[in-house]
Amino acid sequence: MSKALEGVRILDMTHVQSGPTCTQLLAWFGADVIKVERPGVGDATRGQLRDIPDVDSLYFTMLNHNKRSVTLNTKSDKGKEIFSKLIESCDVMVENFAPGALDRMGFTWERIQELNPRMIYASVKGFGAGPFEDCKVYENVAQCTGGSASTTGFDDGPPLVTGAQIGDSGTGLNLALGIVTALFHRERSGRGQRVSCAMQDGVLNLCRVKLRDQQRLAHGPLKEYPQYPNGEFNDATPRANNASGGGQPGWVVKCRGWETDPNAYIYVITQAAIWPKLAQAIGREDWIDDPEWATPEARLPKLEAVFAEIEKWTMTKTKFEVMDILNPLNVPCGPILSMKEIAEEPSLRDTGTVVEVDHPTRGKYLTVGNPIKLSDSPSDVLRSPLLGEHTDDILKGVLGMSDAEVAAAKEEGAV
Ligand SMILES: CC(C)(COP(=O)(O)OP(=O)(O)OC[C@H]1O[C@@H](n2cnc3c(N)ncnc32)[C@H](O)[C@@H]1OP(=O)(O)O)[C@@H](O)C(=O)NCCC(=O)NCCS
Repeated sequence: MSKALEGVRILDMTHVQSGPTCTQLLAWFGADVIKVERPGVGDATRGQLRDIPDVDSLYFTMLNHNKRSVTLNTKSDKGKEIFSKLIESCDVMVENFAPGALDRMGFTWERIQELNPRMIYASVKGFGAGPFEDCKVYENVAQCTGGSASTTGFDDGPPLVTGAQIGDSGTGLNLALGIVTALFHRERSGRGQRVSCAMQDGVLNLCRVKLRDQQRLAHGPLKEYPQYPNGEFNDATPRANNASGGGQPGWVVKCRGWETDPNAYIYVITQAAIWPKLAQAIGREDWIDDPEWATPEARLPKLEAVFAEIEKWTMTKTKFEVMDILNPLNVPCGPILSMKEIAEEPSLRDTGTVVEVDHPTRGKYLTVGNPIKLSDSPSDVLRSPLLGEHTDDILKGVLGMSDAEVAAAKEEGAV
């Protein structure tokens, strides 16, 4: 079976997380991704949060599968010459350096277009044009400035960042979509274009419902929020604790063993259509016809009591027993799964969502595979490259350099 992006060559100038997640996805779809790294140093994440001395960290290996690595000093004269040839030989260039870094190297968008008018040049920055455009940005800065932190957490506590890397990996996804869209457009126009994604925008895009609620606030309290009817609303969307962001109330409730297991919880949604079945399951048949509880409108001011009653029942069962009972009743619910449970879940291995990979210096480790499944273009997850592992292959195979030219470039320290 051919890969969807076979024949697309990507010049990958990315580092840390946001950019690498984008190019990793494209590599999984079959693109030839050439990761350019500084000689002797490489992507900083190779050495960050190392669990085994002198071995590429999991941080790096889990973000750079299926790529080739070439070392190149793009600030030296020889390095710039080689880099220019790589620009001429690739379809897409991706980078997520601090604002202006590539311009300072001499590779402005205008220069890139001169070298290769078909080039798609894709960048991640922390912010779009505006007061913060020159700032360096990491994940949590994006979560804080994109509306996620102010709307996450408990209303009597500080803003919270989430465990999901919505600023980094979320923006990487946006960038990948921008790139394939630009590739599709190039089929018709024959020309490349710039693709720009700001991490603040990416986070805000995922917080769309919170901007919805900001505007609803002008027309009264947000009735599905735990602050209603007794708490206070001010002039901005508040933190919603564990309330569901949709029209169907939901909450996290304790299950058997919660006293010792921090993940013995389940999320239950009290969708209107299944209310009678849920009431019956928890032993509150009296709620089915009682006007005080029977309708969503009647329950809305009493959600705390509704979920307290549900919790009394869930606390008598494990989270998986609750799933087994509520799922056949079509009650939407989901156990809180720990990373350990996810790592050990056989069905996630079967679908290639969690994959075991072998690495020459680290040995076997687990990673997250491609979350997007194509029927005719399956993704094989291949280990990340060692620093500069493919330098010779790329200089000779892609750029057609001779042994003597490669040796001279090495002698000069350009590669
Ligand atoms: C992530 C970030 C904060 C890291 O900052 P940093 O570690 O200081 O790294 P920079 O991006 O500034 O790059 C460092 C330097 O290495 C240089 N460099 C990188 N690769 C090079 C190479 N192959 N050869 C020579 N120099 C190279 C860059 O040109 C830059 O030099 P300059 O400062 O003289 O312009 C920053 O890159 C950033 O804000 N990126 C955009 C937003 C983003 O993607 N953040 C998410 C990270 S997960």
